[in-house]
Amino acid sequence: MTNDKKPASHPPSAPMPWIASRAGTAKAEQTVLDLACGGGRHGRAFLAQGCRVTFVDIDVAGVADLADDPNCEIMQADLENAPWPFDGRKFDFVVVTNYLWRPILPSILDAVAAGGELLYQTFAQGNERFGRPRNPDFLLKPAELESTAEAAGFDILDSFEGEISEPKQAVVQRVRARKP
Ligand SMILES: C[S@@+](CC[C@H](N)C(=O)[O-])C[C@H]1O[C@@H](n2cnc3c(N)ncnc32)[C@H](O)[C@@H]1O
Repeated sequence: MTNDKKPASHPPSAPMPWIASRAGTAKAEQTVLDLACGGGRHGRAFLAQGCRVTFVDIDVAGVADLADDPNCEIMQADLENAPWPFDGRKFDFVVVTNYLWRPILPSILDAVAAGGELLYQTFAQGNERFGRPRNPDFLLKPAELESTAEAAGFDILDSFEGEISEPKQAVVQRVRARKP
């Protein structure tokens, strides 16, 4: 038997435990958008459940090994300098981690299907003490993620804001929110 899948350019790192846990309860056939996916660690966790996963990044080398998987869609797109590539498309889960580009926050929220969930974690103000990112454009303001989702009518199912020590010391916000 041959295995002609392309190797990943780097082995994908472990998914965030709270996202892996949510992925573990997803149903086969549900649709997932892994935005700014990098190596696709979170989309891969949903893929393992039989979900249909769309991976998007400006550099899709990290998910090239998934190119032949019928449950995967891989899209190379510049999310900051080109039109939103998913106009009108909705997903049961939209996952964003360690990425922030404020101009597309409305499009990200719009891409969540009714009854679907936003799973978002990224760096927040205060992270400057520990390392990158330090640029305020890439750091959430206090409660920004939760208040943005709430203002868009989402129900907040879980949230966190503060310091973490794993995989490295950082200040982050996370939100798990459902679109009614
Ligand atoms: C810190 S990595 C996070 C990767 C992944 N979400 C994770 O947590 O493992 C940030 C990702 O954003 C992607 N990215 C940066 N600028 C982008 C852009 N303009 N359009 C699309 N993706 C971009 C990078 O290529 C990189 O994969």
